Amino acid sequence: MRTESIPKTAGRLVDGFGRVHTDLRISVTDRCNLRCTYCMPLEVVFKPRDQLLTYEEIARVAGVLAGLGIRTIRLTGGEPLVRSRLDELVGQLLAIPGIEQVALTTNGLLLAEQAQSLYRAGLSRLNVSLDSLREDVFEKIARAEGLERVLSGLAAAKAAGFRDIRINAVSMRGLSEDEIVPLTLFCRREGFHLRFIEFMPLDADAGWSSQQVLSGQEVRGIVERRFGPLVPAIRSDPSQPAIDYCWADGSGMIGFIDPVTAPFCGQCDRLRLTADGQFRNCLFSTTEWDARQVLRSGGCDVSLAELVQECVRDKRAAHGIGSEDFIRPERAMYQIGG
Ligand code: GTP
Ligand code: 5AD
Ligand code: SF4
Repeated sequence: MRTESIPKTAGRLVDGFGRVHTDLRISVTDRCNLRCTYCMPLEVVFKPRDQLLTYEEIARVAGVLAGLGIRTIRLTGGEPLVRSRLDELVGQLLAIPGIEQVALTTNGLLLAEQAQSLYRAGLSRLNVSLDSLREDVFEKIARAEGLERVLSGLAAAKAAGFRDIRINAVSMRGLSEDEIVPLTLFCRREGFHLRFIEFMPLDADAGWSSQQVLSGQEVRGIVERRFGPLVPAIRSDPSQPAIDYCWADGSGMIGFIDPVTAPFCGQCDRLRLTADGQFRNCLFSTTEWDARQVLRSGGCDVSLAELVQECVRDKRAAHGIGSEDFIRPERAMYQIGG
């Protein structure tokens, strides 16, 4: 076991504000089979494959971080399911002592083919992005076809045995208002946990403006006008980005992820590893720590542990969107991993 070489004094991943990091988000690729406006450019140059970490390299990093207190992992992209045999990586990660859960965030296009093998590999949970149930709106946002495939992917995920499937819907002013009620009806009917997400300044075209942010509060207003008052849910995990509500009849949950109007940075327990092997301490990091260089120059586990400790020590209190000194990261969402 490689983590045995890390001295006990290496400790946990605690930043300068006392936040303990237990969650790692691993991007496995920057490639994607959609081109969502809020995430990717239409014309895109992907990283050469040899710059992406191999599954063995990812598992080695995860092993070191598990020794420092990481307990949950979420796989992201780009679109993670375009990378072959993701189920094998899930298995490798779950075999690491200390790792309790491996989850996945996907656009769902390839789920119909892969849901069963992912479930068998032990994947704990699935979050699926779906912003609209109308093909024309889906295509306007995703700049590609795919709605039917996402819907069959969701059906396959249910049939494979996944429970607590979450649907992520990014809401943008002028685009999403009419999608809110149909998405809500669909998720209630299917038993999915819908979360509306505020649009963050991580689009590749740098077109974000605060006017385009349809706030969680506004979306909640639309939901409550149609379905009646929502009941705040008990917060079981304070580091979760979503504020959840139950339906008055107790039939399920709906959540709001409001990073722009109500940042949750004070409770942040997340670290990120990009597909090309860079540690980031925040979605909005402007600095990265090069784990790939350590891995590929024969560096030991202690060097990796020191690198990630340095990354955590450098973490800022909050992203600062809206403040004068906010700096937009150079990399867009598809290059970071959501
Ligand atoms: P669970 O709540 O465990 O289901 O996962 P999650 O909501 O953290 O993961 P998911 O990948 O589904 O993320 C949903 C949305 O929240 C995406 O738009 C993410 O970019 C956003 N998000 C996730 N983590 C963070 C974070 O640390 N900071 C900010 N600002 N946004 C985040
Ligand atoms: N703002 C908010 N959420 C975004 N996502 C991608 N780009 C953005 C953005 N600019 C969401 C996707 C997916 C998750 C990984 O991140 O919808 O659900
Ligand atoms: Fe954490 Fe950065 Fe997200 Fe804030 S914006 S919650 S600090 S990752």
